[in-house]
Amino acid sequence: MSLLFFLLYTLVLACVGLMLSPIAAKRVPGFKVGSRLRDLPFVGSLLYVARHFHRYHDMVLDVSKEFGEEVPCWSSGMMANPPYIYINSDPAILEHVLRTQFWKYEKGDFFKQKMQVFLGNGIFNSDGSQWQKQRKVASHMFTARSLRDDMSAIFHKNGCTVLDRLAHHASNGSVFDIQDLYFRFTLDSFVEIAFGESSGCLSDGAPMPFADAFDTVQRLVAERFFFGPVWLIKHALQIGSEREISRGVKVMKDYGHQVIQRIRRERREDPEGHRDKPDLLSRFISYAEEHGEEEVTENELMDVVLNFIIAGRDTTACLLSWATYELAQHPDLQERLYEEVKGFSTERESSQLVRQLPLLHAFLMETLRLHPSVPQDTKMCVEDDVWPTGHVVPKGTMVIYSPYLFGRSERLWGPNAGKFDISRWFNPDGTPIKEPSQYVFPAFNAGFRLCLGKAVAIMESTMMLAMAIQKYKFTCLDRDVTYVMTVTMPIKNGLRVRVEHRQTSPSPSPSPSPSPSPAHVQQSQSAIPINAM
Ligand code: HEM
Repeated sequence: MSLLFFLLYTLVLACVGLMLSPIAAKRVPGFKVGSRLRDLPFVGSLLYVARHFHRYHDMVLDVSKEFGEEVPCWSSGMMANPPYIYINSDPAILEHVLRTQFWKYEKGDFFKQKMQVFLGNGIFNSDGSQWQKQRKVASHMFTARSLRDDMSAIFHKNGCTVLDRLAHHASNGSVFDIQDLYFRFTLDSFVEIAFGESSGCLSDGAPMPFADAFDTVQRLVAERFFFGPVWLIKHALQIGSEREISRGVKVMKDYGHQVIQRIRRERREDPEGHRDKPDLLSRFISYAEEHGEEEVTENELMDVVLNFIIAGRDTTACLLSWATYELAQHPDLQERLYEEVKGFSTERESSQLVRQLPLLHAFLMETLRLHPSVPQDTKMCVEDDVWPTGHVVPKGTMVIYSPYLFGRSERLWGPNAGKFDISRWFNPDGTPIKEPSQYVFPAFNAGFRLCLGKAVAIMESTMMLAMAIQKYKFTCLDRDVTYVMTVTMPIKNGLRVRVEHRQTSPSPSPSPSPSPSPAHVQQSQSAIPINAM
């Protein structure tokens, strides 16, 4: 009897100790908690999330549906994590966090500590003046002029190499992974634009240890967010996934080091010629020189290389891959897009191209709505706050918003939100709708940290897809296509497709194409079932 009492007593003490321990799951008072999350004492939602990790974004969607659209936010806790709140597709709260009270919401140490290993203090992993300076320097690269003068030519040249590869696959009828091709296209294009030299991975088709390392590190680092401090122990012991991360980071940094050495050497050999070079590293080096700052260190330049490669490669490659998937799912739409693009010269400056291809633009936006390249983002509240809904958000709360959730919200997109339907991007009279607010459609983020490369990404994807659709039809061979749970949203195991030459592929017009007449626009859009939001 006394032994049983002792055991029970010890058990109760252990439970109380666990509840009070600093790593026990904490919740924010005053917020609803989803029963689906099986929010348990001490571990919180950890077990549920672990079980659904492979379908994480759909799990969030399910929880959100349980509340219904009228609940603007919900909360939960997870062992060893800060208490968290999800914004349930409420644009007013998102605007509050990303713009009105921007300075109260940072990336925060919880995020930064986990990403430090490969993002360092780069633009994606910094706050305050460190972030502001990088944004300012980099923004000079994304002007309309450089888009027109420097970037579109590179996209076109590399787009032609992609077409060569498609021609090869079309001729022998082979099945291939087009996602891999897109990742090579965006990597090569961005490295050439940002660092002045092609990586060569598109033309030679050889294995890419650097890019593979990038993928592995991103995938494994995403796990650090969910399973408590286990990663710290694994990291200290250099075992399992943490060992793989360290190996991958070394490969990435060796590559970054080569890029930095080359740019430094070129600057030494030709200081005058290099002063006005448009490449990104030169801009950071010149900025420090012009502002009398200390010389930019190797680590700072490494952060620029790795952060911008993620920005420029993964996001756009994900968009192109999901767009090709949707093309293959909708053969009728593929034909309508062909009718729109067949007469256009993609060699031309492409901001015009984007305006002249409203159907293709709507197609890309609809793809991003359902398959956002950055499906989820977090902010750490660093000062107590009150939301427009009256919810009190204490300092130390993690605020999570999900473009995946926003894109599939019936409140924001109507009862057919889950359906791929480009007609929602047009008015009943066939004219394109006004672009939705960033806070309704946050695929490119919103507010002060809006994506710097939005126009570049749209131009690059429009050019690549217009070039491909002009010549080829796509069929997808994969069933049950889904995403990998990582920082961005690539297709799991790639996208296996077959391409077929179009019989009547006309050559692009040699001279600049005239703007489509209103009649043309009307005609190309009249086939769209008009069912705008
Ligand atoms: C479809 C393509 C793209 C999508 C969906 C996208 C989306 C996003 C999102 C959601 C963020 C916010 C990330 C965060 O703060 O955690 C972001 C930031 C950023 N993006 Fe993009 N992006 C795309 C393409 C690009 C490209 C091609 C570039 C560069 C050429 C680029 C450059 C940047 C930069 C520099 C930031 C950091 C902005 C800041 O923190 O101030 N993006 N992007």
